[in-house]
Amino acid sequence: MITRSFFGLAILILGVSTFNITYADDPKKAAAELETALELTPNVENGKQVYRACAVCHQPEGWGSISGYYPQIAGQIRTVIIKQLADIRARNRDNPTMLPFAKLDILTPQEIADVSAYIANLPMSRRNGHGPGSYLKHGKQIYDKNCAECHGDNAEGVAEDHMPLLQGQHYLYLVRQFKWIRDGRRRNADKKMVKQIQRFSNRDVIAVMDYISRLQPPQEKLAPPDWRNPDFPRFRSH
Ligand code: HEC
Ligand code: HEC
Repeated sequence: MITRSFFGLAILILGVSTFNITYADDPKKAAAELETALELTPNVENGKQVYRACAVCHQPEGWGSISGYYPQIAGQIRTVIIKQLADIRARNRDNPTMLPFAKLDILTPQEIADVSAYIANLPMSRRNGHGPGSYLKHGKQIYDKNCAECHGDNAEGVAEDHMPLLQGQHYLYLVRQFKWIRDGRRRNADKKMVKQIQRFSNRDVIAVMDYISRLQPPQEKLAPPDWRNPDFPRFRSH
């Protein structure tokens, strides 16, 4: 048992230090890639092929996990996905788990455009994780006053400004990202948002995230009950 976790740790350290050597922290490069990928015409059929590698972690449906370790990416706005991928691989947003799968020799800007369109078209899960339900009224007040102007009245996001859609996201993922943004761990964060949320108490964070996690996407974005992604029929048998 001890030996096993030691090896695990060694691999982790090795992995992390390799990333540090290989990748430059370069927000400018991310911005340039974002512009390139945004202008390309996406090929959704090819996006499906590219998504095969992502499905290992994100699952064929892209629905994420209630634990919040994986976000729901299905139905996210295409421009937001492109921006996050560009930021992750420029190390402008830390994601050591995913970084090897987002490298330039694996994903070209065209493939980023393709896979982002594929993910944006995936129907969303109806069963995302919620919070304790205790402060929903307070959560709505905070949301309407502080967040709606950027993320939209129903947290549906804004495509032109790559403002993320937040509705239907797992509560625990939202809380984690929010704290990372507040504490400066997500370097790609919106500066105005970072400043605005410094004064939030933990109760405020729970309240507003719980409220957001319960905002439902419109019917046409939701998957039918018990839907499984038919593009990857044999995925679970491997
Ligand atoms: C080894 C596992 C793994 C693989 C493979 C992987 N991802 Fe991820 N991805 C993650 C994790 C973990 C996160 C959440 C990171 C965090 O908490 O910040 C994530 C986050 C994301 C996000 C950000 C979502 C948001 O709401 O901001 C996008 C977009 C994404 N992944 C797309 C992809 C695409 C496209 C691929 C395939 C090219 C891929 N991922 C492959 C593990 C993976
Ligand atoms: C000034 C505009 C602005 C305001 C106000 C704002 N946000 Fe954001 N928010 C953004 C942008 C832009 C991003 C994406 C940043 C990036 O590229 O990583 C973001 C990202 C997020 C994320 C991470 C999403 C993901 O998928 O990883 C969460 C959660 C979030 N905002 C919640 C909130 C909440 C809650 C409020 C109100 C208390 C709020 N935001 C107010 C602009 C804003």
